[in-house]
Amino acid sequence: MARRQSFDDTDPPTADRALVIHPHLRGAGEASRSRDPAVRLDEAVGLARAIHLDIVTAEVVPVPRVRPSTLLGGGAVDRLAEVVRDHTVAVVIIDNHLSPVQQRNLERAWSCKVIDRTGLILEIFGERARTREGQMQVELAHLSYQRSRLVRSWTHLERQRGGLGFIGGPGESQIEIDRRLIGERIAHLRRQLDEVVRTRDLHRAARRRVPYPIVALVGYTNAGKSTLFNALTRADVLSQDMLFATLDPTMRGLDLPSGRSVILSDTVGFVSDLPHELVAAFRATLEEVLEADVIVHVRDIASPDTEDQKTDVEQVLRDLGLETAVDSGLIEALNKIDLLDAVGRDDLGAAARRPNGQVPVSAVSGEGLDALARVIDGALSKGRVELCVDLDGADGATLAWLYRRGEVLDRMDDEAGVHLRARLDPPDAERLRRRLGLPDPAREPWEADTPA
Ligand code: GTP
Repeated sequence: MARRQSFDDTDPPTADRALVIHPHLRGAGEASRSRDPAVRLDEAVGLARAIHLDIVTAEVVPVPRVRPSTLLGGGAVDRLAEVVRDHTVAVVIIDNHLSPVQQRNLERAWSCKVIDRTGLILEIFGERARTREGQMQVELAHLSYQRSRLVRSWTHLERQRGGLGFIGGPGESQIEIDRRLIGERIAHLRRQLDEVVRTRDLHRAARRRVPYPIVALVGYTNAGKSTLFNALTRADVLSQDMLFATLDPTMRGLDLPSGRSVILSDTVGFVSDLPHELVAAFRATLEEVLEADVIVHVRDIASPDTEDQKTDVEQVLRDLGLETAVDSGLIEALNKIDLLDAVGRDDLGAAARRPNGQVPVSAVSGEGLDALARVIDGALSKGRVELCVDLDGADGATLAWLYRRGEVLDRMDDEAGVHLRARLDPPDAERLRRRLGLPDPAREPWEADTPA
């Protein structure tokens, strides 16, 4: 039985009226296919909304047997032709990969534009890419995708890009010209990308010299990363009820309860079944995570799909080479607890029964944010060393430096000076030891960060 959601249908017809179909492929081996198709449909609707489509109706269409020419069965194609006509649908989103032939056949059968999951995610990446590298990676992915189909297409990205315009008819020569143009553009983009990546490495090296730990927020799309990022830093980052509100990482300073400053980094949302054409673009935006001192996995604990989403996110992190971090347990912000009822909250369990790194939070109500900050603080303290120092009461600079860079655990002031027990990162502890033992601190590397 097809499951259909109807949406408000009172808007006037526009070119963006869309029908969203999640084909439920029975018996397929992929783990993701075992997920609840209704949840998958909701995710697809969210993705379609993220590119401002006006979704007039959405449904799960069971596909007992894949038909090579159209993916969907003949009966479903005919029935959906009526739905398309009745609702004056301009675009049908098929939440699955379509071969170029399947796409063309469906467009003919329904006399409207058809976009598959890859095309849809490309659109979203195209809209969200903010850095030059992100934009180029997405364009590259889009061109490779286009080269395989070379059909007249409806895409925001193409409209933005202008120039190429796949307006040629189906004639051989036009397709050849398009193919050559695309090939040239791809080669050009690759050269530019090499250059941009080199510059980015320089920027990154410069940033690494900034002496603050980096805390990266990762998570499934729509888990609430940007909202949490804002709540924690009160920064004005793009956060909307849209999937992929962030493609390129955004960074902001944050002071933790211990007084330690960190850089919080918001990253692109993950999705399952990421089209392979997009893996490079996606990874390019995630490389920042590799440099993080602490990773916080933001989870939508109110989603029925939360466990599968967790598995997907952890798999991507493993693929990036972060298996050690994943195996030793990431900090998990169990977000959206405000949406849980009493039973749901009980299921989360008492703090004592939960693994240490899991913190229930609500980025919207602010509940749990202090606890989360403390857990991040604790994770950063793990590698720190504790030491006791006696300072001359007049050495305000060292004192201020200690408060800024470390955690002061105990302090006693008397006529001999200030006696402190503090926790510091090992390089800072070493600097401090040398500082206190050396007469000429001007040559010390930490001097640059010390007020005169
Ligand atoms: P991507 O950029 O797609 O990866 O999404 P994201 O993880 O950054 O999610 P975002 O912060 O954009 O939030 C997605 C939706 O969830 C928005 O509508 C938020 O208002 C909502 N949301 C985020 N946190 C909470 C929460 O704690 N409670 C509730 N009720 N809604 C939340």
